[in-house]
Amino acid sequence: MFLHYGDLSTSDQLTNLIYNIKPDEIYHLGSQSHVMVSFDTPEYTADITGVGTVRLLEAIHRSGIKAKFYQASSSEMFGAASPPQDENTPFYPRSPYGAAKVYSYWITVNYREAYGLFACNGILFNHESPRRGETFVTRKITRAVARILAGQQKKLYVGNLHARRDWGYAPEYVDCMWRILQHDSPSDYVVGTGESHTVEEFLIESFGYAGLDWKEHVEIDPRYVRPTEVDFLMANSGKASKELGWAPRICFRELVRIMVDADMEALSLTPPGEGTRILNCRFGKWHQWANSVSQNIKAAASRGFG
Ligand code: GDD
Repeated sequence: MFLHYGDLSTSDQLTNLIYNIKPDEIYHLGSQSHVMVSFDTPEYTADITGVGTVRLLEAIHRSGIKAKFYQASSSEMFGAASPPQDENTPFYPRSPYGAAKVYSYWITVNYREAYGLFACNGILFNHESPRRGETFVTRKITRAVARILAGQQKKLYVGNLHARRDWGYAPEYVDCMWRILQHDSPSDYVVGTGESHTVEEFLIESFGYAGLDWKEHVEIDPRYVRPTEVDFLMANSGKASKELGWAPRICFRELVRIMVDADMEALSLTPPGEGTRILNCRFGKWHQWANSVSQNIKAAASRGFG
């Protein structure tokens, strides 16, 4: 594998990269992807999360390379639309990030229709794992649980506890992204579990699993409350299930256990272990993220990137 440097704000460079590499498949996941941050950096978010997509599509079109294109569309595009959301639900974004993703969605559809590109949108609902960035709420919570147990933190400060999200396990969503590009014809798909829970429920499950009472540790900080919130997301992934044979295997409670176990292990604590057991019995050898993470880190270190 070779890592090429690129910049979504620079179209000439993207065109050269695509022309030289001639990829078969492009998974466009690059973005300013934090919703709250998009309120502070709306113009940058529009440029990278929105216009960055047309720069890539135009690079494919201009270079004449027959690459299939996957656009990382988001359930944030649905925003205030009533659940359950599917491919026919009208978009109603509630943040600069959501609005930029709506632009990217439609420009992907447009390049498919205008130029016959094999260009698809995966409209992914929240997908989480131990690799999730620490400023997103799930990882912020599971990491805090481990740090509190390790005596490294006393309180966790969060925002709105009532927002509902459809949280799934990220590796399964990557499998679905790949399936989308292997399908006979290009199309757009909603991808989620169909299960929805509040942030408060995530707190209860995470702290409870580790034997802690969340009310003793969690405080509300208005700085984390968004100017406009997305209240209720819940996917109807019927199309992905029917056309791609995709179905999630990890449910909400299991996801919490996987993430808490991993964060405890990272601090050399002994986790309850249910998460690890779930992964082993559900995925067997297919799933070796823990090994592959440490192998990647070792490999990067030996190449001098450590
Ligand atoms: N980040 C964060 N931090 N969110 C909090 C906090 C906090 O302290 N307290 C409450 N929340 C609430 C947010 O207001 C939101 O309703 C919910 O927790 C989830 O927030 P995030 O984890 O930041 O994710 P997101 O739903 O806004 O966006 C993620 O999922 C999208 C897919 O639907 C991101 O990964 C997006 O890039 C992605 O498109």
